[in-house]
Amino acid sequence: MQRLNSEISTELKEVDKIVARDFRPRSLDSFIGQVSMKQNLKVFIEAAKARNETLDHILFYGPPGLGKTTLAQIIAHEMCSEIKVTSAPMLSKVGDLAAILTNLCNNDILFIDEIHRLNSSVEETLYSAMEDRNIDIIIGEGQAARTVKITLNPFTLVGATTRLGLLSSPLRDRFGIPVKLSFYTQEELKLIVERMANITGKEIDFDASYKIAMCARGTPRIAIRLFKRIRDFSEHYNGLNGKIDLAIVKSSLDALEIDDMGLDISDYLYLKYIMKSHNGGPVGIETISAALSEDRDAIEDFIEPYLMQIGFISRTPRGRIVTNKCLGYIENIGLL
Ligand SMILES: Nc1ncnc2c1ncn2[C@@H]1O[C@H](COP(=O)(O)OP(=O)(O)OP(=O)(O)O)[C@@H](O)[C@H]1O
Ligand SMILES: [Mg+2]
Repeated sequence: MQRLNSEISTELKEVDKIVARDFRPRSLDSFIGQVSMKQNLKVFIEAAKARNETLDHILFYGPPGLGKTTLAQIIAHEMCSEIKVTSAPMLSKVGDLAAILTNLCNNDILFIDEIHRLNSSVEETLYSAMEDRNIDIIIGEGQAARTVKITLNPFTLVGATTRLGLLSSPLRDRFGIPVKLSFYTQEELKLIVERMANITGKEIDFDASYKIAMCARGTPRIAIRLFKRIRDFSEHYNGLNGKIDLAIVKSSLDALEIDDMGLDISDYLYLKYIMKSHNGGPVGIETISAALSEDRDAIEDFIEPYLMQIGFISRTPRGRIVTNKCLGYIENIGLL
C-alpha cells in the first residue's frame, strides 16, 4: 500500500508538470506552417540584427487562434528583446499608453493585442510614437496646461488584430511589415497535433492525428484543444499510458458533438437558421445575430471565417448565402 501511494504521487507530479508547461513554440523554427511568411520574417529579423537596428513595426492579422500572439513572443525571442504585452481595451487613456511607451527600453517589443479597438486619442498618440519615436503629453490643467514632447527609446510595435478592416488606414500604413495569417493545411495541423503528443509524452497513431487535424477548422488553437480533450477521453477509458488511436478520436469527437468537417452545434444552428427561416439566404448578419442570440463579433470571428473557407457560405452585399456545396453536405448528414 505504501509503495502504491508513493507511485501514485510521483505520477501526479509528472502530470502536473505537463499541465503547467507552456505549449507555445519559442522559435520561428519550431513554429509550424505559414512557410513563406516565416521565411520573410527571418530575413527582416536577420537584416535588422545585422544592422544593429530596431525591427520595423509588425502587424499580424487573421482569424483567432492562428498564432498572432505566439509570433509576437517568438519575434521578441529571436530579436533577444524584452516584450511588454497589452491590449487595446486596456489603453483607455492617452496616459495609459504614454506610461507604457516611456518605460520601454532600447529595442523592446510592445505587443498590442486587438489593436483595432484603440480609441481615437490613444491611436493618434501612437502615430507619432511609431513614426517619430516621440509623444506629446499635456501636463497640468486649464491655463497652466502645457505640452511636453518626450523622446522614446527605439522600439518595435507588434500589433495583432482579427479585423484588419476595422483598422484606420493611418494606423495600418505605419506598420512596415504587415503579415496576414491564413488557415493551416491538414498536414500542418497534423504536425501541430504530433508536436503536442510529443510534448505531453503521448503516443498517437497516424490516422488519429490526421483525423484531429481534419476537424480542427484550419486552426492550431482548435487542434490543440481537441488534442487535449481527446487525451482526457483516452486516459479516462484506456489508462494513462494508453495510446491515442482512431477509435478513441472518433468516439471523443462524437462525445464533443464535432462532425467530420469540424462543425459543431453553433455552426449547425447558424446554417439551420439561414436554411429554415430564410430559405438559404441572403440574410443580414444583424438578423442572424439577433435570432441566434449570439454576439455579431463572435459570429464574424469564430463561425463565418471557417464556413467561408470551406465554401459553405458566401457573403454578398445583401447578406449571407448558403452555397450548393453546403446544401449537399447538409442533406448528407440529415441536418434539416
Ligand atoms: N504554427 C504553430 N505551431 C504550433 N503551435 C501553434 C502555431 N500557431 C499557433 N499555435 C498554438 O495555437 C494556440 C493559439 O495561438 P495564439 O494564441 O498565438 O493565436 P492568436 O492568433 O493570438 O489568437 P487570438 O486572435 O484569439 O488572440 C497557442 O497555444 C499556440 O501555441
Ligand atoms: Mg492572441
